Amino acid sequence: MNDHDVLNGSMNDDQSAAPTAVAPREGDAFGAALLAHHRDGEQAGRHVLERDDGRIEAMSAAGYFADPDAWLPAERRVLDLARGRVLDIGAGAGRFALELIERGHEVTALDVSNGALEVCRERGVSDVYHGTVFDLAAAGPERYDTFLLMGGNLGLLESAEHGPRFLQALEAMAVPGAVVLGIGMDPFDTDDPDHLAYHEFNRSRGRAAGAVLLRVRYRRLATPWFEHLLQPTADLAAMAEAGGWRLGDVADEPPWYLATLRQE
Ligand SMILES: C[S@@+](CC[C@H](N)C(=O)[O-])C[C@H]1O[C@@H](n2cnc3c(N)ncnc32)[C@H](O)[C@@H]1O
Repeated sequence: MNDHDVLNGSMNDDQSAAPTAVAPREGDAFGAALLAHHRDGEQAGRHVLERDDGRIEAMSAAGYFADPDAWLPAERRVLDLARGRVLDIGAGAGRFALELIERGHEVTALDVSNGALEVCRERGVSDVYHGTVFDLAAAGPERYDTFLLMGGNLGLLESAEHGPRFLQALEAMAVPGAVVLGIGMDPFDTDDPDHLAYHEFNRSRGRAAGAVLLRVRYRRLATPWFEHLLQPTADLAAMAEAGGWRLGDVADEPPWYLATLRQE
């Protein structure tokens, strides 16, 4: 083998055949990154966010473990706005759950990632639920005063079809007067050419401009591809109405916003 072979990746005897790339194994890549950060430090938890146009972004997990003084001001406001019993949806490493428990709230941390919930438990969140809001709503008579969708988790609304169903599942678990507190992002508040091209790519295939198809990569693991919706607050207002909620206060922190949804 000479330098030329190495550059072409042909390290086997058959000089004409390219080596076969091994696909990542599907699994809980995000949870594995959180666990690695928790146990072995920031370097160990570095992971990659991959979008379906081929764009990748190197990520640290540190933000998911950060104390409130490092949060966005809009995120800190949530600590005062939360009331009563709280469902932290997509709780991650539990940064909101832990702060709210310290302030005397009963909090359930819900996540589809077993690794994330293991980190939550190890950090002191005892009430965890593995599954989606649909699973929890179907499972029983749990009722909550506050639903959290933090860290951009308004993106879990996914699409104009899925969002109202998601919000109806929360409605089924809501006590009268309950609120949804969610952080979202306006996809149009950008001049990044990659993002602008992605909006066009989406439009060309009949998808909403702010729809994002993503997966998380960690070492040799990849999550399944998942939908994440970025939408301006005007679109969120329409979706909230279709799901039985009403958009209340919005705290802008461009490109992010904190939205409060109230029961109709
Ligand atoms: C960006 S992280 C945000 C974590 C946390 N809320 C925070 O602000 O630090 C998104 C979290 O949502 C979880 N997640 C993704 N899809 C979900 C779904 N359909 N239902 C519940 N959790 C989900 C992920 O496993 C991950 O822990």
